[in-house]
Amino acid sequence: MSKVTTKLRTRSALDVSAEALDEISAQATKLVAEYFTNVAERDVLAPNHAGKTSARVNARLEADGVPLERLIEECQTIIDLSRHNGHPRFFGYVASPSTPIGAYGDLIASSLNANITCWRSGPAGTEIEKIVGRWLGSLIGYDDDAKGLLTSGGSMANLNALLIASRRKSGPEAARKGLWNSGPPLTVYASDEVHMSIAKAADILGFGRDHVRTVRTDERQRIDVVDLRARIETDLQQGFRPFCVVASAGTVNTGVVDPLNEVAVVAREFDLWFHVDGAYGAPGILDDGSKDLFKGLELADSVSLDPHKWLYVPVDAGCLLFRDEATAKAAFNTEDADYIKVHGLRDDETFAYWDYGVELSRRFRALKVWLTLRYYGVRRIAKAISEDIALAAYLGELVEDAEDFELLSPVELSICCFRYVPMHGDFDLDQLNATILAAVQKGGRAYVSNATVKGQFALRACITNFRTTKSDIDETLKVIREAAEQVVNSR
Ligand SMILES: Cc1ncc(COP(=O)(O)O)c(C=O)c1O
Repeated sequence: MSKVTTKLRTRSALDVSAEALDEISAQATKLVAEYFTNVAERDVLAPNHAGKTSARVNARLEADGVPLERLIEECQTIIDLSRHNGHPRFFGYVASPSTPIGAYGDLIASSLNANITCWRSGPAGTEIEKIVGRWLGSLIGYDDDAKGLLTSGGSMANLNALLIASRRKSGPEAARKGLWNSGPPLTVYASDEVHMSIAKAADILGFGRDHVRTVRTDERQRIDVVDLRARIETDLQQGFRPFCVVASAGTVNTGVVDPLNEVAVVAREFDLWFHVDGAYGAPGILDDGSKDLFKGLELADSVSLDPHKWLYVPVDAGCLLFRDEATAKAAFNTEDADYIKVHGLRDDETFAYWDYGVELSRRFRALKVWLTLRYYGVRRIAKAISEDIALAAYLGELVEDAEDFELLSPVELSICCFRYVPMHGDFDLDQLNATILAAVQKGGRAYVSNATVKGQFALRACITNFRTTKSDIDETLKVIREAAEQVVNSR
């Protein structure tokens, strides 16, 4: 027998027996169910330090497999040492909890392991993603012709949007010659409150962070449209090529929505691509009381909206929606790679997501979004969003009524920025509040993050959390006050 023949596989190398499969399913499901059942009783952040997880799990790569039982124990350790975004008093960053249906959606998608590069490689997944794109578009007032693609998150959606926008202005030769060899320098406009991913995209795409023009904000921290127009006019006079304006529908710091209708007018006047970063805030349009803030969103050429931020879908699930599919396709279309060309299929069957974004291999993200929207229905999701907004407003009221807290920004969507101001004594308030923040985060009873609001250090609570109730808000302020008093008394 030849050397090769003795190595030829005669049965699966990695498949497991039916009993082993049952055991993995039962143990993993038990872990997940316990987590979802008990998340509110856990510390938001268990006592932890760098290196603790690595010390408690096996960090050595072993040649032989280990029993399932040990792996489940180690997963339990990982769960215990995690920070729990799903805890009802977790208000840090923009991180909504996931739901069981979303989590199991991910499990189904990973089991199927469909690679949604195009219809050919993921026919069902592609069609589900198209449906999800249409649904998300309909939430923001787009019609059925509008399209979208799911991304890893808002940063990737914004990057894709800026490439589409810049190619529209610079033309297809920029793909071959580079931006700097295909016309005057491009400029994009956004307020000083825009998310950092816009500057990052400018860097990655090669037109440079300095070419993201920072437009002033008004007293409510909304983009100042007069300054926007003035900056565009100055750049045109100086030979630059304005190509895009980015408005925010829910800034990351304070949740403010730019005056979208007015920005749309300027964009049209100067023939700019109008992109709205609604990665966090766009689902706020589902709240009847907030709807008016979003007037003009439907006029945007493209919108980032992350289901993993405020539609309670597990990470990762970002989305870029655009009205003009042809312009998006012209930006990404590649004729270069033979191996991805689709042969022998017709019409919709040749559809490929690689024509619309950076990624080629893509997870089946749409399944968890589709399942979440189907399981709860839009009405129930909208109610949860409205309640988040009401709870943020309630926190704002408590802060305003308190003598030892100060509200640093009006509560517009579901973000409340404030600081502790001791009634006696002379303190550097930025430093004091930074110390209070660290104490609250380490304490494990509630979690807020921070922001800089008009140059001041703010404690920031972003409420995108369907588990939070009024008593969690009361408790959070109590926790912060207790931490603050301890810090003040220890001085
Ligand atoms: C307004 C806004 N845009 C973009 C992003 C980036 O999103 P991601 O973290 O999913 O890349 C964030 C993140 O918080 C955000 O709040």
